[in-house]
Amino acid sequence: MKAGAGLFSALALFLLIGAVATQRKPKKPKPSRRPPITRRPSVPQPAIPAQPEPQEPTDFPPPILGPPSIYPDCPRECTCSPSYPNSLNCENRNIRVIPVIPSRTHYLYLQNNYISEVTAEPFNNATEVRWVNLANNRIHRIDKQVFEKIPALLYLYAQKNQLNEVPSGLPASLEQLRLGRNRISKIPAGAFNKLVNLTLLDLYNNQLSDSDIGKSTFKDLKSLMQLNLARNTLKKMPAGVPSNLIQLFLDKNRIDDIPKDYFGGFTHLAFVRLNYNQLSDKGVPKAVFNVSTLLDLQLAHNQLASVPLFNGHLEHLHLNHNSIESINGTQLCPYSLHADLSDHSVVPRLRYLRLDGNHLSPPIPLDVIMCFRHLHSIVI
Ligand SMILES: *[C@@H]1O[C@H](CO)[C@@H](O)[C@H](O)[C@H]1NC(C)=O
Ligand SMILES: *[C@@H]1O[C@H](CO)[C@@H](O)[C@H](O)[C@H]1NC(C)=O
Ligand SMILES: *[C@@H]1O[C@H](CO)[C@@H](O)[C@H](O)[C@H]1NC(C)=O
Ligand SMILES: *[C@@H]1O[C@H](CO)[C@@H](O)[C@H](O)[C@H]1NC(C)=O
Repeated sequence: MKAGAGLFSALALFLLIGAVATQRKPKKPKPSRRPPITRRPSVPQPAIPAQPEPQEPTDFPPPILGPPSIYPDCPRECTCSPSYPNSLNCENRNIRVIPVIPSRTHYLYLQNNYISEVTAEPFNNATEVRWVNLANNRIHRIDKQVFEKIPALLYLYAQKNQLNEVPSGLPASLEQLRLGRNRISKIPAGAFNKLVNLTLLDLYNNQLSDSDIGKSTFKDLKSLMQLNLARNTLKKMPAGVPSNLIQLFLDKNRIDDIPKDYFGGFTHLAFVRLNYNQLSDKGVPKAVFNVSTLLDLQLAHNQLASVPLFNGHLEHLHLNHNSIESINGTQLCPYSLHADLSDHSVVPRLRYLRLDGNHLSPPIPLDVIMCFRHLHSIVI
């Protein structure tokens, strides 16, 4: 068996070398997406003396090298455009190891490669880096020393990788952090400390549970506006969410209960998504969504039997695919149906209402139409 494996590796290596030779031709097609992984050919196993095992795994295609650049410091795996001297474009290049980043780089594009680890050395001279895009690689580790080299970092995009925890040592300058589609099940203590300028935190599609999010996890994030914790395994609403938040996404968790005053402390909260959770009437206190800043509330695919009360300022409400059997416009109307209708401040702003996938059938009750005069569309 060993001999056969050796032969296959040798064949694969040969194919790789062939591919490198092809790539080195001066006229190189510009790849628009990640090329397929080289497959080992399936041939019968002849008895051939064992070759030494290659040092490197052979399922990686070789890096795609570009023509020499006018910039002597431009790595061959990257392109350096004279029109954008501060950008280093290394995306879609089959790179496995981050090249040495030139000191003039502000914007660093490394997405769609095969990078497995981010270490500090390539960043030794790259102190000006503002944006790093590492999305869609195989990264399982980002050394915290990396961030000591790039203290002015504003955006870090590392979604679709294999991280098990939130990287430590994130610089205080950070404004956007995208870590969605990893395997994160741990937020080290103080991971978000000092990130006073962070406005966007995306932890979508990871393995976070209630015990990973404590009261102080997000406490320093005074500027946070968007928090995405959708597709994790939360059973409770996250604790200690900063009060300036505008957008809170919690779809596809296992939340079955919302504390009575959960939304009370928010001053700007406008978009709340709780689609695909386990909310029933029991876990939703009567007026919990009566929040005057709320514009868009999504509660689809839960187990609600009645329409929760909401504020007159709400514009979009998704309640499709619940267990609602009836809707009473008189009870639901945020203002009295007999209020002075020429006074626009007492006309509810609801414009879009989805009720399909419940146990309701048309017609829409007259009191609903009477109350929600701005309603453009209602799906029933
Ligand atoms: C680091 O940057 C400085 C200033 O731009 C430059 O003089 C030096 O050669 C660079 N060193 C390396 C190793 O690239
Ligand atoms: C946060 O942003 C402000 C305004 O852009 C800036 O003056 C300040 O230095 C930033 N703070 C950090 C820690 O980078
Ligand atoms: C909803 O909130 C408004 C203030 O925004 C308040 O006047 C009203 O009484 C509340 N309704 C309920 C049912 O709590
Ligand atoms: C709706 O609620 C109001 C007030 O609670 C009640 O008087 C009315 O009968 C209800 N309408 C229906 C159709 O159940």
